[in-house]
Amino acid sequence: METQIEQLWQLASDLQAKNAQELEAHRIGLLGKKGKITELFEAFKQVSAEEKKMWGQKLNALKKLAETKIEALKSQLQDGTTKTENVLDLTKPAPLALGSTHPLRKVRQEIVDIFRHIGFSVSEGPEIDDDWHVFSALNFPADHPARDMQDTFFMESLGGKDDLLLRTHTSSVQVRLMESQALPIRALCPGRVFRNEAISTRSHCMFHQIEGLYIDENVSFADMKQTLSYFTTAFFGKSQIRLRPSYFPFTEPSAEMDVYWGLNSEADYRITKGTGWLEIMGCGMVDPNVLEASGIDSKKYTGFAFGMGIERIAMLRYQITDIRQFFENDKRILHQFV
Ligand code: PHE
Repeated sequence: METQIEQLWQLASDLQAKNAQELEAHRIGLLGKKGKITELFEAFKQVSAEEKKMWGQKLNALKKLAETKIEALKSQLQDGTTKTENVLDLTKPAPLALGSTHPLRKVRQEIVDIFRHIGFSVSEGPEIDDDWHVFSALNFPADHPARDMQDTFFMESLGGKDDLLLRTHTSSVQVRLMESQALPIRALCPGRVFRNEAISTRSHCMFHQIEGLYIDENVSFADMKQTLSYFTTAFFGKSQIRLRPSYFPFTEPSAEMDVYWGLNSEADYRITKGTGWLEIMGCGMVDPNVLEASGIDSKKYTGFAFGMGIERIAMLRYQITDIRQFFENDKRILHQFV
């Protein structure tokens, strides 16, 4: 027993550890359940009564030495580590640049804020929708080309339903509102839409839309014109608009709204193709068939709807010439929109 205590005494006095794991291994090796010192305490039980006192003192001293040594190494390691480089220093300034709001998100928010002032709220709906909400309830004739495979991405038998598709416009959200909300309705429906078009600088298979709907008693075409002029004034600082006759299955009459952009610079000539006018959105009075399809009395209620592409508006706002820049996540571009 004597030699064993001596050896362990030596070992404990010279103890070294490079890191916490190594130190823990030493601790277990000496003081753990099967540690060398613990084993000596086991052996001590066999020692004769006369010798107990002497060995007991020696063993306790050894145990104490090992414990103090381990504690000392532990605090040494802790002090050391806070000084090393690769440890998290919460007082350091953050090395990462802050993110920025995406230009499409900024434009969407600006449009929402403008319409919020005149009582519009925001509604969202599913991107995967059915034929009823995207086409049928919106008065699309059965053979309308927009249902054609060329424009619409149809889902092949999803969940047993054959008529699921990726929505081609957010008018589908408006149908859901008309079906479920109490009148009057004043709503904006922003969101992603999908069309099976060739990818070029002008078109994309996925883009963002924001559509609006207002239904109440006595809503007139003049109300629509005034509302849209309010919007172009607030958003572009330009109040002069014109409405050109157009066609949408869900509105009657239908129109394209242009804003007078002006011809003050070379760029104005380029983007307006020399006319000074820029097409901003489609709009019109909600077709009575659409109201009736959602259970709204078309004799009592009228309404208007409008819809625009957020990418197009953002390109005008920020003079971005290539739509792909919105989706490339180039930080040099995104960081300009803090
Ligand atoms: N839903 C039309 C589109 O996607 C836009 C629109 C909305 C036109 C409402 C008129 C009224 O092109």
